[in-house]
Amino acid sequence: MKGCNWGMRILSGMRPTGRLHIGHLSVLENWVRLQEENECFYFVSDWHALTTGYDNTEEIKNNIRNMLLDWLGAGLDPERSTLFVQSHVKEHAELHLLFSMFTPISWLERCPTYKDQIQQLGKEGKDLSTYGFLGYPLLMTADILLYLADAVPVGEDQLPHLEFSREVARRFNHLYRTDLLVEPQALLAKVAMLPGVDGRKMSKSYHNDITISATPEEVWQRVRLMVTDPARIHKTDPGNPEVCLVYKYHKIYNNEEIEDIEANCRAGKIGCVACKKRLAEKLNAFLEPVRERRAKWEARPESIDEILTDGAAKARATASETMNKIREAMKI
Ligand code: TRP
Ligand code: SF4
Repeated sequence: MKGCNWGMRILSGMRPTGRLHIGHLSVLENWVRLQEENECFYFVSDWHALTTGYDNTEEIKNNIRNMLLDWLGAGLDPERSTLFVQSHVKEHAELHLLFSMFTPISWLERCPTYKDQIQQLGKEGKDLSTYGFLGYPLLMTADILLYLADAVPVGEDQLPHLEFSREVARRFNHLYRTDLLVEPQALLAKVAMLPGVDGRKMSKSYHNDITISATPEEVWQRVRLMVTDPARIHKTDPGNPEVCLVYKYHKIYNNEEIEDIEANCRAGKIGCVACKKRLAEKLNAFLEPVRERRAKWEARPESIDEILTDGAAKARATASETMNKIREAMKI
């Protein structure tokens, strides 16, 4: 509870886009760390998924469950954090509506990613000249301010949205002569940006990702495809680790052997296949506890429903309290 001695109120959300990959795991590790000493709200932003995927909804429910399992696998603890689905707490929609009354359209139009994304996804045949897509940062603002969150762990790409939410909070407080709404601060985590196994951005749609829930065999199949030093043909050829993706991964997941690997690669003493095998072993050891936790939860499907029902009730308790104060401030 706010005012108590246990740190800040933290809130963050993630879209249910499908199985999470190891890039997301560093984001989740940060969420897990934060839950130790703070009051945390973490939600699946299913309405946000609709802002770009309104015509492709079949998988949403499935994705929500799988994402929650990934979260639990990563170590989020429903006893410590409030885990819920955005659409289960209708107050998000009410606050978004009220904010829309006084938010200038120009503020939304100048969000840096707005025009870019319309153009980019337009090329892929998607029409994003919609009301919902324009209003997406305002929905995100409602998500955050509804809980009077002090801080929001986000990636760098979301910083403009957070700045936007602070402007909306200030505008509300100014218009209704109150100090009710809290201007949230961003918590930027040092997230290791790992490329996918083909060197492009890691993404499900490129099939170059390593998912959190991958089996050891699936991990090996992905690592096998990683691009190495292209100039190296025989395993006795001296290699150049600087241009090798496998090496980049070793740096993160096998740092204790990194000097050996570099030396052996440069001296032509280790073959790329062996080097990849070693990486797959390390990745699998790293993912094993995540898999185990995930499998335990997966074995009890009813527990997932319970977590989400409880989470929604807890979130709604806070959200409806804020909504009462907001209506009061607005005299409506
Ligand atoms: N917009 C975020 C994303 O696409 C997800 C999100 C929705 C979010 N609401 C939020 C993140 C509130 C932080 C706080 O990744
Ligand atoms: Fe990359 Fe390892 Fe091959 Fe060197 S030996 S090029 S580091 S995969």
